[in-house]
Amino acid sequence: MTASSNLKDPLVLFMPSGKRGRFPVGTPVLDAARQLGVYVESVCGGRATCGRCQVEVQEGSFAKHGIVSSCDHISPKGPKEERYERVRDLPEGRRLSCSATVQGDLVVDVPQDTVVNAQVVRKAASDRVIERNPAVRLCYVEVDEPDMHKPLGDLDRLKAMLARDWGIDDPAVPLRLLPLVQKTLRKEGWGVTVAVHHDEDTARPEILAIWPGLHNETYGIACDIGSTTIALHLVSLLSGRVVASAGASNPQIRFGEDLMSRVSYVMMNPDGREAMTSAVREAVNGLIDKVCAEGGVSADDILDAVFVANPVMHHLFLGIDPTELGQAPFALAVSGAVRTSMAELGLKANEGARTYLLPCIAGHVGADAAAATLCEGPHRQERMMLLVDVGTNAEIVLGNSARVVAASSPTGPAFEGAEISSGQRAAPGAIERVRIDPDTLEPRFRIIGSERWSDEDGFAEDAATLGVTGICGSAIIEVVAEMYLSGIVSEDGVVDGALAGKSPRIVPNGRTFSYLLHDGSPRITVTQNDIRAIQLAKAALYAGIRLLMEKQGVAEVDTIRFAGAFGSFIDPKYAMVLGLIPDCDLAEVKAVGNAAGTGAMMALLNRGHRREIEETVTRIEKIETALEPHFQQLFVNAMAMPNKVDPFPKLTAAVKLPPRKAASDDGGDGDPAPRRRSREERMARRAR
Ligand code: FES
Repeated sequence: MTASSNLKDPLVLFMPSGKRGRFPVGTPVLDAARQLGVYVESVCGGRATCGRCQVEVQEGSFAKHGIVSSCDHISPKGPKEERYERVRDLPEGRRLSCSATVQGDLVVDVPQDTVVNAQVVRKAASDRVIERNPAVRLCYVEVDEPDMHKPLGDLDRLKAMLARDWGIDDPAVPLRLLPLVQKTLRKEGWGVTVAVHHDEDTARPEILAIWPGLHNETYGIACDIGSTTIALHLVSLLSGRVVASAGASNPQIRFGEDLMSRVSYVMMNPDGREAMTSAVREAVNGLIDKVCAEGGVSADDILDAVFVANPVMHHLFLGIDPTELGQAPFALAVSGAVRTSMAELGLKANEGARTYLLPCIAGHVGADAAAATLCEGPHRQERMMLLVDVGTNAEIVLGNSARVVAASSPTGPAFEGAEISSGQRAAPGAIERVRIDPDTLEPRFRIIGSERWSDEDGFAEDAATLGVTGICGSAIIEVVAEMYLSGIVSEDGVVDGALAGKSPRIVPNGRTFSYLLHDGSPRITVTQNDIRAIQLAKAALYAGIRLLMEKQGVAEVDTIRFAGAFGSFIDPKYAMVLGLIPDCDLAEVKAVGNAAGTGAMMALLNRGHRREIEETVTRIEKIETALEPHFQQLFVNAMAMPNKVDPFPKLTAAVKLPPRKAASDDGGDGDPAPRRRSREERMARRAR
């Protein structure tokens, strides 16, 4: 309720924020929104010319809120609004909130164009609405003409109008804009639009750009710099609409496939850091060109940008030597949010454009994990949420509103198809789904680019076109899990050579056995070494997760979120059968796509989200797995499928798992036999 209101005043409820208050009849709806802290865009300052302040009245009885809302409870269109409608076309049902006034109880919808598709490529994506409150705003002002008797400078009179109309006091003005002020003011009869950057409330606002007349659009960039790919979105800061999106491979791959090989490259080559910094910035510029061309937007209209990245990518992008991140204690050069300009980074945008990088959580848990946390919000809810971004270095966050802990785990590149004999990146022709008949041990599979299973009519034609080229990450999880479910591999991950007599699919390979998945060209097999590589990767991930669960004092998690492209393709059931993730109700395991990219978008469109993640990161407890003596035992336990000691009751209720080995099978005490244990401990050390 507002200070001056009384109980007889109409009640106004804004959606989707749910903020409400009573306002005297005649209050402009825009003013009501402002008083309640509801962000409604306005460029023209209520002159009914920019059209950015549009709202919709919802009609009906809203019993829950005790409001009967009707179009009769808002003032009829006045001459200014009618003029706007005539000239610029106002969509049916929309009103200009700067002109329309409160006449009775109202439910007002502030349309949010920002519906972010979670970038899940082949699965239905859940859309997310981001409320806007960007750090950069456009403010139109009409400046008094100069007066010989009041010798106040043009810029000073402009500032006076910003203070009067927009409440922006004494903004900083960069020197490069001073020579432009006089000409710009005179071009369109003393009306100018000013771009003002005001991120933190306590900081001084700054003028970034100035245009003659009404300038009614400005854009921002949200970008996730991954070790393998870079994803970038061009977003309208005024409507939140995603204008265009583009992605590219990270060109740093030519210096090293994974993060540590890139750190080594910097250590070994005097110009290595510079080369990698320029490579990533050039790639970002290439993507900016692409999205601007696709959206028909000039790069000069880009005024803000948010970047997220893992710590090594973050440092290289900023031009910081990442060597310290390659060795204990994994010191970040900077862990807090970084604010700089696009120009300083050599990126294409308006000369005044700002840049914001989310804070990093720890030396191995970066701004990308912070962005994914912002997106999924474990800190905003009561349930214990596990958030996992599986990459060559898995980033793990576990927590709820009471406490959040985070760690990284060195899973290595096996989940991405590297280190696997027939592994490959996800691309047409790669096997992506696998099933194995437990009786005949015959497989059937699907390849990327075809909707058919390999035993269905028409598959041969598809395969002839696409080829059957290898196994991608999601299928590696499935094939190993299916081999376990069908008894081809034991819970300890050994291919059972005795089955060679039963099925021609089990083939000898030196002193071990392989499973023949596809007898073509190339011949695709799953070898004993492949299974070991997957065991190592999944054990490293699971041990990291268990360590965090122990820190939280919980035996189970309530919900699991898989972030990242890889997570989008994993079938949760197989991930759990393999023991990649802890026991959980399968319906509670969800892939959330590029959560880091969505988090970047949230920080771009709402500066409140920047404060939220800055504050949250200071509260997240960082756990360094390499320093935890218990990690080794957890790792050894996690080498088994799904786990040597953890019971997985929910999984067992949903999936028929092979009977577990009796304790005597492995040395009599439930532990692996001594020889095997020392080998697994060696593996654990390797993984660390
Ligand atoms: Fe510009 Fe209403 S604020 S049209």
